[in-house]
Amino acid sequence: MKIYSNDNYEHMSICAADILCEAIRPNCVLGLATGSTPVGMYSELIRRYEAGKLDFRNVTTVNLDEYVGLRPSNEQSYRHFMNEHLFDRINIDKERTFVPDGSSDPELECKKYNDLLSSLTIDVQVLGIGHNGHIGFNEPSDEFSKLTHAVRLSPSTIKANSRFFASPSDVPISAITMGIGQIFAAKRILLLVSGKEKAEIVERALFGPITPKVPASVLQLHGDLVVVGDEAALSRI
Ligand code: PGA
Repeated sequence: MKIYSNDNYEHMSICAADILCEAIRPNCVLGLATGSTPVGMYSELIRRYEAGKLDFRNVTTVNLDEYVGLRPSNEQSYRHFMNEHLFDRINIDKERTFVPDGSSDPELECKKYNDLLSSLTIDVQVLGIGHNGHIGFNEPSDEFSKLTHAVRLSPSTIKANSRFFASPSDVPISAITMGIGQIFAAKRILLLVSGKEKAEIVERALFGPITPKVPASVLQLHGDLVVVGDEAALSRI
């Protein structure tokens, strides 16, 4: 495991973009994440693209997850988030950007996503971490999931994500998420952590027991885990 500590969010976003850029070349596959943490990295990628330093032609992306019940056009959907924060602002072919469709039948959509993922090798998978240690929407559980599946969101995740909705009751109660086995199969994992409220879970995930009760703890076993954080999130390690 490599850990890069940065003095603030802006610097960690630049550091994360540097690491992701090492993988950006024609025909690469990037595993992407939503949430607040990667937004600064996406802005930095856009800045480099606008400066003529990055080319996203022939790049494929696969996202971790999506809320069940939201159409791709819904402003709260993760498809919308990705379009707004990255895809609409770079020269990527949208046909090569994959996010589960939350408005499709979840079972069929999971099958479709599993077929897609079995045909690809992810070069770098970007991850955030939930306060409960979730990665994607793999919530604490009795076992590590292998494949893409539909999950019921935990009350703590609904509470954390309600900041993006008008009220907690508007947050969808379920989601489709890539399985931990599929995340783990990426050649490299880029875990982004920011803010002091993540410090405790970061310590437990990276140095505590490996258990599906803390889904991110499995990342300790990955052969190429890169953690990029700010000092606040890394303050306990
Ligand atoms: P955040 O979400 O980046 O908004 O903190 C991370 C996550 O829940 O995986």
